[in-house]
Amino acid sequence: MILPITAYGDPVLKKVTQDITPEYPGLKVLIDNMFETMYSAEGVGLAAPQVGLDIRMAVIDASPFATDDELPKAEREFLKTFKKVFINPHISERWGEPWGMEEGCLSLPGIHEKVFRPDAIRITYMDENWVEHTDEFTGYAARVIQHEYDHLDGKVFTDHLSPLTRRMIQKRLSSISEGRVKTHYPMRFPRRK
Ligand code: NI
Repeated sequence: MILPITAYGDPVLKKVTQDITPEYPGLKVLIDNMFETMYSAEGVGLAAPQVGLDIRMAVIDASPFATDDELPKAEREFLKTFKKVFINPHISERWGEPWGMEEGCLSLPGIHEKVFRPDAIRITYMDENWVEHTDEFTGYAARVIQHEYDHLDGKVFTDHLSPLTRRMIQKRLSSISEGRVKTHYPMRFPRRK
């Protein structure tokens, strides 16, 4: 089932989310729905707050980046199958020269700005079978994970921008929360007039 995506300005996008237990009701269906919602919106990641839930969970499929010819072959091969569920993720370390990339977000349709993030992370999380992993990621994978992880800490990518850039996009952000934006996927707007 495709779920409506919460738009910028919704309080749930500002919440620091809580870990869940394996007993969380309907978790398997929720994971399936989040993938379906992400694919239909043509996103590479989706965090639970983006479907209105303040729980520590995100889904990612970064395989569309595998077609980027500018990436080293090994990274393209890795990204081809980079599809994961992150339950209760916690980043323990970030390192590597921060690099900038134009990011977008399904909750902020039409907004694309360059965000700088460290190149590498170490993260502990459960997969959909409740097996614990501690993995290191670099490059695009680390970037997408950090973007989704921000959502779980109540942040969106525009929080990383300079005050000047933020001021320049403020009107467009307000339009989004008021529902004055067109998307090809269903959304939920906090201040629709
Ligand atoms: Ni996002």
